[in-house]
Amino acid sequence: MLSRMQIIPTKNLISSVRHLSVAKPAVKSEFSVGSKSQEVFDREAKYGCHNYHPLPVALARGQGVHVWDVEGRRYFDFLSAYSAVNQGHCHPRIIDTMKQQSEILTLTSRAFYSTALGEYEEYITKLFGYDKVLPMNTGVEACESAVKLARKWAYTVKGIPQNQATVVFADGNFWGRTLAAISSSTDPESYGGFGPFMPGFETIPYNDLKVLEEKLAKDHKNIAAFMIEPIQGEAGVFVPDAGYLKGVRDLCTKYNVLWIADEVQTGLARTGRMLACDYENVRPDIVTLGKALSGGVYPVSAVLADDEIMLSIKPGQHGSTYGGNPLAVKIAITSLEVIKDEKLVENADKMGTILRRELNKLPKEVVKIVRGKGLLNAIVIDAKYDAWDLCMKFRDNGLLAKPTHGDKIRFAPPLVINEAQVLECAHIIAKTIQQL
Ligand SMILES: Cc1ncc(COP(=O)(O)O)c(C=O)c1O
Repeated sequence: MLSRMQIIPTKNLISSVRHLSVAKPAVKSEFSVGSKSQEVFDREAKYGCHNYHPLPVALARGQGVHVWDVEGRRYFDFLSAYSAVNQGHCHPRIIDTMKQQSEILTLTSRAFYSTALGEYEEYITKLFGYDKVLPMNTGVEACESAVKLARKWAYTVKGIPQNQATVVFADGNFWGRTLAAISSSTDPESYGGFGPFMPGFETIPYNDLKVLEEKLAKDHKNIAAFMIEPIQGEAGVFVPDAGYLKGVRDLCTKYNVLWIADEVQTGLARTGRMLACDYENVRPDIVTLGKALSGGVYPVSAVLADDEIMLSIKPGQHGSTYGGNPLAVKIAITSLEVIKDEKLVENADKMGTILRRELNKLPKEVVKIVRGKGLLNAIVIDAKYDAWDLCMKFRDNGLLAKPTHGDKIRFAPPLVINEAQVLECAHIIAKTIQQL
């Protein structure tokens, strides 16, 4: 068992590309960065915090599965804003709702009631089958709120003595960048230099039911919750073994520990199911959602749980000025309706199968592993190739993807992609790899 201060960096987790590192040398190609693009890069570099290392492409417009740069070049978006744009860029229905509601009422704060919030609360809780929803804004806030809820439940319902509750996470987890989120991280790039860290957090290996059982058997009296992603996205699209989620459910029930499923990236049709947990027909005690809950137009997140858990937080004990505002919740309803009406679950499932079939045809000396579910996929490339350089070449050929953790490249297009487009993208990927 590793506590925060004992965490041993694993090979997979040593380097994250979601930070600024020394600029990589540009690859030789037909693509040349225009002066307009260069202006965009330079201004951000001059005035913005260097907390990201973006691929050098300056985007100005998006529609559906495509984005265009300031020089008018079109690309397939194979990142979808880390799965926030599941419904496609600037989905007309979502934008319409945004326009309409922004002329009616945008923010009341939760100091007062608004007509829109109850409508949303009823809609989303019935859709996912939970008693209640806690509305927040970003993914990390939803996850942090879930952890707070679990702690409150632990003290008020489970009976853990004050300040002794622990929350267990899995190695390789990613749930954002706040101090609490990085306190559970096993990635030195994430937590390094930001201590001291949140007490009461521990990590165990992902996808290991034996270790989980040992941990719960030993310490369950003081464990409030076990929080995991059903597929680890940022760690490189790690899909656990079949039966893992079911095993987690059973063990958490057996030891009276809450199971929190972080579905911020995997949820809302991304993996070919409404929730990735649906693959094993299991129901977590707490579910967190974010990203595509707004189709990429506004920060909207949510925590779903039943009364026994949700009602352990009382008025004044948690909140957010923007959480649950009329604009956000109207956008969320339409975003969820689009997923249902356009059958994005089915489409992600079908298109994902086609994409992986094509990716599996790529030369094995370059692409070592293809993995994923639905349209959350990754390839692991051989160590002699550089994932960043490969993504630069994908860009040159009209497809935008980003490496995650060194040798992995995530392929996660908007879920509105059709078969012809998947095949065109597979062709771009194959052609680019041949050019290596
Ligand atoms: C699984 C998961 N949880 C939480 C978050 C945090 O979401 P946000 O960046 O909106 O705070 C992310 C972001 O990538 C994520 O992938």
